[in-house]
Amino acid sequence: MKIPHPLLAVLATAITSQGAALSPTTTSLPSPPLPPWYPLEPWQISALHSRNPHKSPYGVNASSLVLTVANPKRVAAAPAPHGSGGGYVVFGNSTATCEIHWSTDSATPYGYSSVACTPAQLDGNGQGGDTYVPYWTMTLNEVHEDLSSPGDHYLALSFELVHNATVYGQKAYKRMTGAVTLRSAGAGANLQGNCGDGANGECVYDLKDGAAPVLFQPTLQECRFACG
Ligand SMILES: *[C@@H]1O[C@H](CO)[C@@H](O)[C@H](O)[C@H]1NC(C)=O
Ligand SMILES: *[C@@H]1O[C@H](CO)[C@@H](O)[C@H](O)[C@H]1NC(C)=O
Ligand SMILES: *[C@@H]1O[C@H](CO)[C@@H](O)[C@H](O)[C@H]1NC(C)=O
Repeated sequence: MKIPHPLLAVLATAITSQGAALSPTTTSLPSPPLPPWYPLEPWQISALHSRNPHKSPYGVNASSLVLTVANPKRVAAAPAPHGSGGGYVVFGNSTATCEIHWSTDSATPYGYSSVACTPAQLDGNGQGGDTYVPYWTMTLNEVHEDLSSPGDHYLALSFELVHNATVYGQKAYKRMTGAVTLRSAGAGANLQGNCGDGANGECVYDLKDGAAPVLFQPTLQECRFACG
């Protein structure tokens, strides 16, 4: 059974009570005001620590990357015609910790791997829609030392944030993605650290002093309800 859209129900009632002969269609209905979440604000990486052997190949137990990522902005989930706050129920802003361990070998020379992140504890009081669990995923697309420029440590990461919840019987859904490159050399370098020498040398990197938060722009990939 298709659950009626509450907003459509309200508009249909209004039209009927005016005795208008209009039959409402998707195109003739007025849209709610533009959701107060659009455009998206940059996502933020506020802390990072990575370590891996200088020499590849190496296994997952020898490497790790832990970082904190956040979407600072609330995102409209679905219209709430009887609610306050601009007529939308919102997904709250969110913060997550992502931890990944990767290997490099001939099959994964750049360490490609993906992991689900752990969202920060929600306060659960409903403020800002923060009762809806955010699903963050991080993908490590590439990690390596640039041998032509010794000491240039390079991390290419992408993130996905999925919000989904049933709101007033509507399956509200948003999927956003964003990508960022972190490196220790060149213009806009945002990592600092170094690699130890020798066979057991380890590369250890953190965000450069003054570089936090690293900002990168997400884009909306899929959406149901309150899509702007
Ligand atoms: C990683 O370490 C765990 C615990 O010490 C061990 O059980 C596992 O086999 C190791 N994995 C690899 C790929 O070396
Ligand atoms: C949401 O943003 C507020 C204000 O910046 C902040 O205090 C709070 O910790 C954020 N919540 C999450 C889950 O990121
Ligand atoms: C919401 O999305 C996440 C991530 O794609 C998925 O794991 C989860 O099962 C979904 N939950 C619902 C209720 O659809």
